[in-house]
Amino acid sequence: MDALIPILNKLQDVFNTVGSENIQLPQIVVVGSQSAGKSSVIENIVGRDFLPRGTGIVTRRPLTLQLIYTPVEDKEIQCQNLGCPVPNEDEFAVFTHIKDKVYTNFNEIRCEIEAETDRLGGKKNISKEPITLKIYSPNVVTLTLIDLPGLTKVPVEDQPVDIEQQVRNLYLYYISNPNAIILAITPANIDFSTSEAVKFAKEVDPEGRRTLAVLTKLDLMDRGTDAYDVLCGRVIPVKLGIIGVVNRSQEDIHKKKPIEEALRYESAFLQKTYPSIANRNGTPFLAKTLNRLLMYHIRDCLPSLKTRINQMVSHFQTLVNSFGEPIEDKGRLLLQIITKFASNYCATIEGTAKNIEVSELC
Ligand code: GDP
Ligand code: NA
Ligand code: MG
Repeated sequence: MDALIPILNKLQDVFNTVGSENIQLPQIVVVGSQSAGKSSVIENIVGRDFLPRGTGIVTRRPLTLQLIYTPVEDKEIQCQNLGCPVPNEDEFAVFTHIKDKVYTNFNEIRCEIEAETDRLGGKKNISKEPITLKIYSPNVVTLTLIDLPGLTKVPVEDQPVDIEQQVRNLYLYYISNPNAIILAITPANIDFSTSEAVKFAKEVDPEGRRTLAVLTKLDLMDRGTDAYDVLCGRVIPVKLGIIGVVNRSQEDIHKKKPIEEALRYESAFLQKTYPSIANRNGTPFLAKTLNRLLMYHIRDCLPSLKTRINQMVSHFQTLVNSFGEPIEDKGRLLLQIITKFASNYCATIEGTAKNIEVSELC
């Protein structure tokens, strides 16, 4: 099943290269109020420390994060394709705005995200220009995730007065994509029935077909209260599920608590506090659920994806025809290449779709 997403990531690259925005590929988008724990959740899913996190509006530009499963034996060929030197480490990353540089130090990645955020947005303003980071690793499931600034109500310092509207527009841009899976993040220490994230997701996905809710900060609830009702969908039901997690606190971040230790703590916390539903919550379960949803979603999108590719082929055909006689041969050659390319992809996609159907029945 994991074979499907590398194909789609490749497709995305190809269509980015030819400058087409026609193909909308599935991706996971986090939404939620400021400091709800969006960046923390993404970081935990990735399993590496590299995102700027903290109190206040830390994330101010969309971050498109492509995780690309790369077994050690594929490292060399992957680097060849990227045209970059082969690093010693098995886990490495590249930014699309920096050519020829391979990152293996995740602190350095965080610094570059911060610098690049400031470059367009300044210290307070948000910008809708995404930063794209690709992480190649033998330890990830192949996923594309998008980290976004938080929903805010009140502008701070020199933020524009319409900051709330700006962020909402940004969210709409990403989550209106019918191929987006929405991760609606709500902290457990607010009233879930007032969740901005869930409300916002409902606006674009009223039937809840592509929204998964995540309840963060289970460790920060008032004494004597628990999240059983919320997690079991008795406050607001969320069709695809509500998954509780414990991320690192600000103090943990200051003390540089390693992610593995945080995951062990989360697991122990869930066993102790939510024994009857511990196996349906936590970061590893969230990652697994996401992967499954993504597979279903891609499968559902395949027919229209194929239609779009065919549309593109006929678009190119028209374009090539319009070149007229003198370069007809070249035009025909180009068309053949494009058609072959597209039909290869359709064939691969269909093949993979069949595999999914078979394996889902098991
Ligand atoms: P974002 O603004 O939604 O991206 O939120 P961040 O991921 O930057 O987190 C905001 C703050 O909340 C940081 O100080 C995190 O350490 C803290 N935080 C996030 N999730 C949790 C959690 O589950 N438990 C605790 N104790 N703190 C958390
Ligand atoms: Na924050
Ligand atoms: Mg953030």
